[in-house]
Amino acid sequence: MGTFLIFAIFSLIFLVSTTTSQTTFGNNFESCFTINSPIHITNITKIVHNISHPSYPPILYSSIQNLRFNSTNLKPHFIITPEHPGHVQAAVTCSKCHDLQVRVRSGGHDYEGLSYKANTPFIIIDLINHREVRIDVENGNAWVQAGATLGELYYKIANVSKNHGFPAGTCPTIGVGGHISGGGQGTLMRKFGLAADNVLDAILVNAYGEIVDRESMGEDLFWAIRGGGAASFGVVLQWKLNLVPIPPQVTAFTVMKTQNQGATQLLHRFQQVADKFSEDLFIRPMIFVRNDANGTKTVQVNFQSLFLGTVDKLIPLMEQSFPELGLKPQDCREMSWVESILYIDDGFPKGESIEVLLDRNHNVNKGFFKAKSDFVTEPISENDLETIWKVMQDGESGIMIWEPYGGKMGEISESETPFPHRAGVLFNIQYFKRWQEPGNETEAEHLNGINKLYESMTPFVSKNPRTAYLNYRDLDLGKNKNGSFSEAKVWGEKYFKNNFNRLAKVKGEVDPENFFKNEQSIVAPNVSVS
Ligand SMILES: Cc1cc2nc3c(=O)[nH]c(=O)nc-3n(C[C@H](O)[C@H](O)[C@H](O)COP(=O)(O)OP(=O)(O)OC[C@H]3O[C@@H](n4cnc5c(N)ncnc54)[C@H](O)[C@@H]3O)c2cc1C
Ligand SMILES: *[C@@H]1O[C@H](CO)[C@@H](O)[C@H](O)[C@H]1NC(C)=O
Ligand SMILES: *[C@@H]1O[C@H](CO)[C@@H](O)[C@H](O)[C@H]1NC(C)=O
Ligand SMILES: *[C@@H]1O[C@H](CO)[C@@H](O)[C@H](O)[C@H]1NC(C)=O
Ligand SMILES: *[C@@H]1O[C@H](CO)[C@@H](O)[C@H](O)[C@H]1NC(C)=O
Ligand SMILES: *[C@@H]1O[C@H](CO)[C@@H](O)[C@H](O)[C@H]1NC(C)=O
Ligand SMILES: *[C@@H]1O[C@H](CO)[C@@H](O)[C@H](O)[C@H]1NC(C)=O
Ligand SMILES: *[C@@H]1O[C@H](CO)[C@@H](O)[C@H](O)[C@H]1NC(C)=O
Ligand SMILES: *[C@@H]1O[C@H](CO)[C@@H](O)[C@H](O)[C@H]1NC(C)=O
Repeated sequence: MGTFLIFAIFSLIFLVSTTTSQTTFGNNFESCFTINSPIHITNITKIVHNISHPSYPPILYSSIQNLRFNSTNLKPHFIITPEHPGHVQAAVTCSKCHDLQVRVRSGGHDYEGLSYKANTPFIIIDLINHREVRIDVENGNAWVQAGATLGELYYKIANVSKNHGFPAGTCPTIGVGGHISGGGQGTLMRKFGLAADNVLDAILVNAYGEIVDRESMGEDLFWAIRGGGAASFGVVLQWKLNLVPIPPQVTAFTVMKTQNQGATQLLHRFQQVADKFSEDLFIRPMIFVRNDANGTKTVQVNFQSLFLGTVDKLIPLMEQSFPELGLKPQDCREMSWVESILYIDDGFPKGESIEVLLDRNHNVNKGFFKAKSDFVTEPISENDLETIWKVMQDGESGIMIWEPYGGKMGEISESETPFPHRAGVLFNIQYFKRWQEPGNETEAEHLNGINKLYESMTPFVSKNPRTAYLNYRDLDLGKNKNGSFSEAKVWGEKYFKNNFNRLAKVKGEVDPENFFKNEQSIVAPNVSVS
């Protein structure tokens, strides 16, 4: 009798525990998701999209910027479009028990497609429906959900204040989720630093599926996600941002010069002065090759610029700081800060409304592209510039954008955030090659062009390590000469210098099982990866 009772109780416990484990994890991903979502789900097909749903392809392809990775071979098991933080928690929990990798996508601008492609079974958490922006003008800050674009953020700031702005990137369709967690440089950085330097708080779903804020995540993790790339650490749900003071009128201008018009000498001079300009002045040369009137190739430099003030203040400042450029009042356009976003993005043609900032496809000229980056600490001589021009004229090398540093960028210590490229940097270089025709041979030709230019720049840029900017992600940085992948430290130190060690330590503490993983995610020192 007693034995039977014990047996019965044991069976009952066994029965209950198997049922529990089934109800906890579900037989399949969808039921797991429903069970684990802290809020009741009325219609799961609106949140969990599987491959046979009509909603799956349009969501999958919607924000892919780089057509090199826009392929029918992309097959995430599910695309999750969370409408509530609890949906993100359920996605993390259920991916874990169904052995699926997680890719998080905000704006989809990742240069190597890491937010939506993986060569292992995976899901995409796409934050397209998680993009509320709340501005608190009185306290000069904003809470922004990670799926918002920079354009949405900029528009909503300008909608409530003429005197506030936010220092971040120049392309309005970028997502704040990826951008801010990777640094975020733009026209205001010389005065206010990076987007990541202006983060006050963040809400994140961590590797345990918990929702944490700055206080509960701790300062190490809060440090890591402001420049170290949040994809290694969790899913950012929201940022609290510090808004910065902007004058009601700013001035934008672009001066264009070809080699015959002295572009080389101007660029030489630029390197000596641009990092020392007033913090209100930002001049970035865009350097490319074009055919001149005679049909021969010339290098052209567009000095694309923003000044935080009016023309009458700008002209005397230029006469003092960079008279060689010969800026005249008629080259300049006064406008509001939010209009200057469009000026930098598309020239702000007459009649354009700032409402286009809300259009997630505005001026998106989808194409195939490849980018690389460098930092320069010593001016490049005129002779060396001439050598570089020969390389650019010779092949399909694309455009170089030189973003001036100095000012606030040089005042922030290298270890303040994971982004270490601070004092001593004259400018950042972005190499960018875009093409429109598909095909592997075409691709190879263009990649060869940008690689040749990058190789030829070796003597003129930072060394030991040759550094790079995380947001201009480049998987080549982690490849050995024989094509094999190197350990994380190799690319990690290029992006983060000594901060890589701290990032790796934080990773070990907050995600010991290495759940949040991609081709360039931080790896803890005590974890081996295959
Ligand atoms: C046309 C163009 C112009 C650009 N201009 C600039 C510029 O002016 N300045 C500049 O600094 N950079 C610029 N960039 C680079 C851009 O900052 C990066 O590509 C950035 O990572 C994009 O963020 P995203 O959210 O749009 O991209 P996504 O592809 O969605 O994400 C990029 C990375 O961040 C991760 N991620 C995204 N959201 C989250 C989240 N919520 N939580 C955790 N991880 C997340 C992704 O998994 C991926 O690893 C430009 C890129 C393009 C394509
Ligand atoms: C659930 O959502 C899908 C997609 O939006 C829709 O087609 C379907 O009719 C909805 N089902 C119910 C029961 O509301
Ligand atoms: C996809 O979802 C539908 C219901 O919306 C379901 O009938 C089908 O089995 C699911 N397919 C997969 C592969 O999970
Ligand atoms: C991306 O690929 C899909 C699937 O092949 C295709 O339908 C879509 O048109 C492509 N997008 C662009 C912008 O070419
Ligand atoms: C603020 O935004 C609303 C809605 O888009 C718009 O109607 C209004 O004109 C905007 N106001 C300003 C000052 O931009
Ligand atoms: C075109 O060629 C003529 C004669 O060689 C030269 O003087 C002129 O500067 C060239 N024009 C341009 C735009 O390069
Ligand atoms: C291009 O290369 C990829 C990978 O090497 C291959 O899978 C694909 O079939 C090739 N496409 C064409 C059109 O050759
Ligand atoms: C490739 O090169 C790396 C380092 O240069 C080396 O460690 C590795 O063993 C090489 N792999 C092969 C397959 O040769
Ligand atoms: C790695 O180290 C961290 C602490 O630094 C520890 O919490 C974690 O459990 C370790 N992971 C493994 C796999 O040993």
